Amino acid sequence: MRKQMVAGNWKMNNNVVESELLISKLLEKFPESINSNKRIVVTPSFVNLIPVVSWVKNSRIEVAAQNMHFAKNGAFTGEISADMLKNAGVNIVILGHSERRTYFNETDELLAKKVMTALENNMEVIFCFGELLDDRKSGNHFKVVENQLSKALFELEALAWKNIILAYEPVWAIGTGETASPEQAQEMHAFIRQLVAKKYGADLANDVTILYGGSVKGSNAQELFSNPDVDGGLIGGAALNAAEFEAIIKAV
Ligand code: PGA
Repeated sequence: MRKQMVAGNWKMNNNVVESELLISKLLEKFPESINSNKRIVVTPSFVNLIPVVSWVKNSRIEVAAQNMHFAKNGAFTGEISADMLKNAGVNIVILGHSERRTYFNETDELLAKKVMTALENNMEVIFCFGELLDDRKSGNHFKVVENQLSKALFELEALAWKNIILAYEPVWAIGTGETASPEQAQEMHAFIRQLVAKKYGADLANDVTILYGGSVKGSNAQELFSNPDVDGGLIGGAALNAAEFEAIIKAV
């Protein structure tokens, strides 16, 4: 069954003291009554994963990592492996974020390897993709998205998809304050679901969670999430503020 999710991508924000403060506010805010079909995820920096995992233990908040390496271990200075994450109690990883693609040259081919490693380690992947402003202006956005998905994910076996969560994040909307309109989001999400259906069948496609990301806030979350193919959001800036994040979760 398709699950809804709101994932807060903290990026390179929140030291350990700030992380503890934000988590304590979030723990206060999430009452038992929240529908259990709705998943809440936070994504601290690597160095804060272990304490955050311990603070959210026995709560409904789940913890994801922002990235990982594809290799099992070895001479990769500064990198983190799937085994290290799992060992820290982290079973979800964001891969393919546009900031990783842009600033750290992560390619679709590299991401395909990372996805494979995560799945081999029984981790869930929040896989990010989305077009640049130029792609949208030139009408190439559907083609770009199709390419990103097919290169990184469409070689997977159907069974692997139970651990895949898609996050459509148009790059022009990330951190810019400019959000895709609810119509643009729904149009793209329906297209994505149709691509998955074409490759893997309608049942599987119907079960895949597809998040929207890009300047989601408390004030625009409801109209974005009310679309039938938008199953929640990947939230950057607004996830750093407990009240905003709460409003977004309530909007799902
Ligand atoms: P934003 O970031 O909400 O600050 O636009 C979203 C993301 O990068 O995942």
